[in-house]
This record gives sequence, C-alpha cells and structure tokens, in this order.
Amino acid sequence: MAICSRIISTGSYLPKRIMTNFDMEKIVDTSDEWIFQRSGIKQRHIAAKNQSTSDMAVIAARNAMEQANISPKDIDGIIVATTTPDQTFPSVAVKVQSTIGVPVGVAFDIQAVCTGFIYALSIADNFIKAGQLKRALIIGAEKMSSILNWEDRTTCVLFGDGAGAVVLEAQENNSNSGILSTHLYADGGLRDILYTDGGVSTTGDSGHIVMHGREVFKHAVNLMAGAVNAALEENKLRVENIDWLVPHQANIRIIEATAKKLSLPMENVIVTVQDHGNTSAASIPLAFDKAIRSGRIKKGDLVLFEALGGGLTWGSALARM
Ligand code: ACO
Repeated sequence: MAICSRIISTGSYLPKRIMTNFDMEKIVDTSDEWIFQRSGIKQRHIAAKNQSTSDMAVIAARNAMEQANISPKDIDGIIVATTTPDQTFPSVAVKVQSTIGVPVGVAFDIQAVCTGFIYALSIADNFIKAGQLKRALIIGAEKMSSILNWEDRTTCVLFGDGAGAVVLEAQENNSNSGILSTHLYADGGLRDILYTDGGVSTTGDSGHIVMHGREVFKHAVNLMAGAVNAALEENKLRVENIDWLVPHQANIRIIEATAKKLSLPMENVIVTVQDHGNTSAASIPLAFDKAIRSGRIKKGDLVLFEALGGGLTWGSALARM
C-alpha cells in the first residue's frame, strides 16, 4: 500500500512583548497610518533579548504535540525552517530535539526565508512517502528582530518574531485526507531584491535585511498565483474547490491582490498579518494554527498554502484536512 502524509496537529507561539505601530513611531520616522495602509500590519511581537529562535520553536512544537496527544518518543524527525538560527551550527532542529527529548533520528534546518515552511513541509512529505519517516515535527521559527536595521523605516516596521509547528504523520494512501501536492521554486537571478547585507563567510556577521519592496511586490503576486495554479492543475481542481487559502503573511495588499488574481473571495483567505507582521517561515504555521484552533478550518477542508521569500523562493502546498 502506498504511503502519504497527513497533518495531524498544529501549534504556535508569539513572544509576550508587543510593539504597536505607535511604538514604531517613537523609533523611526513613520506613522500608524502609513504602516497599516501599505501593509495591513497593526502590531508585531518581539522576542526578549535572551529568547532564541529555538526557545520559540520548542514552545510551538510542544503545543502541536499536545494537540495530537503524542509524546516525544513518537517523533522520528524534526525539520526547522529558519533564517535566524541561534548559532551558525548546530541546527535549531537538534536543539529542539534534545530540549523536548525526541529520540535519535533525523533533525536538520532548512533555509528558504519566507518560503521555508512550505519547503520543509514538502521535504518531510517526501521523506514520509519514501518510508524514511513516520511522524515528523515541521517547525517555522524566526527571530527576525535580530536581523533588522532598526534605523531603516522601509524594513523594520514590517517584521516580527514567532514560531509555528505541525505534526505530519504517515498514513495509507487510500484515505481522503493528507498532503495532496507540493510545488517548490527558486530563481537565484532575483536574489538581489531581498537579502541581508552580511553573512558568516563574507562579513562575519548576520547582516541586516535589505528589501526593494516594490520589486518584491511586483514578482510576489504573479509567482504565488502561478504556484497556486500549479497545485490546482496537478490535482484537477478549480479555485471554487478550495475551502481556505493560508498565504504567507507579509502584506495584506499582496494577499488581496493574489486572491483577486485567483478569483478567490477574501472570506476564504486566512489573514493574521495585522497581529504579528511578517514572521518569515513562521507566518504560515502561525496563521494556520490560529485558524484551526478558532474552528474556522475543519476536518475535511481543502487548504492551500502559498509563500514567497528571499532568493527568490516560492511555492505552494495543498492538503485535505
Ligand atoms: N513610514 C513612512 N514612510 C515610509 C516608510 C515608513 N515605514 N517606508 C518607506 N516610506 C516612504 C518611502 O521613503 C517613500 O517616500 P518617497 O515617495 O518620498 O520616496 C514612500 O514611503 C513610498 O515608498 P515605497 O517603497 O514605494 O512604498 P510601497 O507602496 O511600495 O510600500 C512596501 C512599501 C510595504 C515595503 C511594499 O513595497 C511591499 O509590501 N513590498 C513587498 C514586501 C514583501 O512582501 N516581502 C515578502 C517577502 S519578505 C522575506 O522574504 C524576508
């Protein structure tokens, strides 16, 4: 019997400290009105100085394990999508593994910036289909505040910190649920429109985010809509069949423009960007967890995830809950 994977639970974590747009007004020359109109963001959560990406990842992971009612020994793989690891090495994934007491198994990080969660989900799905994993923790966790230039108003108002997780489990392919497809893309020719101006093998530090916002915006809508259409085509579905779109939470204008291009009503789109800003790889699992826990997304629903980030990288994943 062929094997596929299914999302059995979700979890998330946002740091306690909230910075509103009014707080941002005290730091840089900006306004609540400008930030909200251009991005839809009202506030972001900022991790404490001594709170690392793995600390947030651990809480989100425990949350997801609790919802599935499973213990650490039931997990045989951990994949963390992050751009802001605690250390250059070891990975955030091995820190999560030892902190929550998951037995020896597969654990590694992947880096695809804001598309990281979809990349990690796709990798885990393929591991499960190949029979190499049975139950995996997929985590998106970011301390974006650590790579922001807090004097650059064009970027610092847009990002926040947080973590989200799902548990992915192997199941027989004859059920009507599970990951139906994943589509991943990258175009390194577009790497100069969104990057950090540093790195361990160049400047010796992590650097800060530099973004040519208009350029990113221009590519984002077309590329994400393309990834969604690839998922629909492969599964012989139409946009009307989609119950929920869970997009990367970067900017409400990009989310709305993508939904419009797809002719998908906004009532079918999960939006949480107003509460936490762009949390990069954490944004999709954060939005997803909120929608699951509030009862909006239910068993049997068809859910489409899509994201775009630095690289550029982009992609989609389609799942029946
Ligand atoms: N407050 C007030 N004014 C500002 C601010 C600010 N925080 N930031 C920029 N401005 C000014 C600019 O200086 C400019 O002034 P000027 O006209 O006098 O030169 C004006 O506002 C317009 O600036 P634009 O950059 O043209 O504004 P735009 O409408 O494009 O909005 C934004 C900027 C929100 C960044 C938008 O381009 C965007 O959302 N881009 C996509 C970002 C994104 O989705 N990234 C996702 C991937 S992130 C990742 O992968 C890590």
